[in-house]
Amino acid sequence: MKKRRNFLFVAFYSILLLGISGCSDKGNRNPNTFEILTPKPSPVPRINGAKIFGVRPGSPFIFTIPATGSKPINYEVLNIPAGLSCDPKTGQITGVIEEPGEYLTTFRVTNKLGSAQREFKIVCGDKLALTPHMGWNSWYVWENHVTDKIMRDAADAMVSSGMIDHGYMYVNIDDCWAIKPGSTDSTLLGEPRDIRGMVNSNKRFPDMKGLTDYIHSKGLKAGIYTSPGPFTCAGHIGAYGKEEQDIARFAEWGYDFLKYDWCSYGKIGRKDTLPDLQKPYILISNIIRNQKRDIVLNLCQYGMGDVWKWGKEVGGQSWRTAGDLGGSFEGIATALFRDGFDVYSRNSLHLYAGPGGWNDPDYLLIGYLSNWKGETVPTPLTPNEQYTQVSLWSLVAAPLIFSGDITRMDDFTLSLLTNDEIIEVDQDPMGKPGYRVTKSGDTEVWIRHLEDGSCAVGLFNRGENSLNVTARWSDLGLAGKQRVRDLWRQKNLGRFNDEFSVKVPQHGVVMVRIWPH
Ligand code: GLA
Repeated sequence: MKKRRNFLFVAFYSILLLGISGCSDKGNRNPNTFEILTPKPSPVPRINGAKIFGVRPGSPFIFTIPATGSKPINYEVLNIPAGLSCDPKTGQITGVIEEPGEYLTTFRVTNKLGSAQREFKIVCGDKLALTPHMGWNSWYVWENHVTDKIMRDAADAMVSSGMIDHGYMYVNIDDCWAIKPGSTDSTLLGEPRDIRGMVNSNKRFPDMKGLTDYIHSKGLKAGIYTSPGPFTCAGHIGAYGKEEQDIARFAEWGYDFLKYDWCSYGKIGRKDTLPDLQKPYILISNIIRNQKRDIVLNLCQYGMGDVWKWGKEVGGQSWRTAGDLGGSFEGIATALFRDGFDVYSRNSLHLYAGPGGWNDPDYLLIGYLSNWKGETVPTPLTPNEQYTQVSLWSLVAAPLIFSGDITRMDDFTLSLLTNDEIIEVDQDPMGKPGYRVTKSGDTEVWIRHLEDGSCAVGLFNRGENSLNVTARWSDLGLAGKQRVRDLWRQKNLGRFNDEFSVKVPQHGVVMVRIWPH
């Protein structure tokens, strides 16, 4: 199993950069040498993040207008649908829409320096996750040490760091909130369920409803985790045989997101045929659909049975495309530099995702992460590799879920997570994921078509030295003069004929957006 896991996360990460053997900028761990490319947000108001949002009729609505600019900001929603209201001081939009339909609203934010406005479409129907999820997950930094306090601190940090102003929304607990039978740690012991058969949280989570209320009070959404098997991957109680009760419990607690992790289901269910693989997910999504709140479902079964082909059909809003990026730092590093397991391109994953269902290649492994020995340490990825991960995630329309320590972000980590022009690519409302167009030696060029007719292009260098990487119009399906803008630096680079060529550092990327002139 372990071997298979290792293989899977190696396989996954090859969608990244593949083929770099060895890592000579490995020594670069000095934060002073990390080049911050993202300009600081302007004090003048700007509206960021998604431009479209799905909700079901009758479900509680929570969305905070993401806007940068010096505070205080006054928030308004023009043409707000009946049933919703916007808090002018926080930008939190809450309420319930009863009437299905498409509502075209306008967000307007104003501070002492000026104002900005932008259209925002609310689609009230049966589709959620019209753009990839953005948020934070506890796993890679806190793994089995997660507590109520850690989750509340994470919600606080999402606001105080300003991540909420760039569109981050979900604060998700991963494994280890439930009872763990047989644990040597008394805080994890107890009755797994109450007399009604409803699942209990362990002593580290004394008040689940209080926790989600707290997260919601910040204008954020809360996520939880379980397994279709009797136990989760870390040995805590799973949902097997109690699916109805567990989903009812999550809804009553007020959760908005569920990661449903295969884990021990393999010991009871079969996995020989597609119906075997789909069965637990069909069961759970049908139960979720009957709840009176929207719960986004993330399928976590490591890509088995080409899940990207049917994840949406069985009710998932996202599906992990392979195994874990890293159970260890070695794992992440090896995976990043291995050739030949190119899950994304080999399977043309871009063809399967879109509004309502996204490929999930796992979390953003930047900032401080667990070393699985009870300590948190800086990511093993070099600065260029971190730019590469975030760029590639936004090109492939992956969920942007940060899993490092959100309470301990340096300026570099924050700059990687909050570049609005990169986020705009990830959150493009057309929702067409990007793909690789050329691969030549150590260089790769990826493209993503965007709603306004422009395209985002990533020029990647997997090699050990800087290299010139060229994006040719003929490869990108473009012709004539094009306007090119550097997205990380947020700078126009000029107009180019036939091609754009640029020097890209070792293991790094230059990400641009190209508009017809
Ligand atoms: C699996 C998942 C991880 C994480 C752990 C928790 O390995 O793939 O993302 O949820 O379980 O135990």
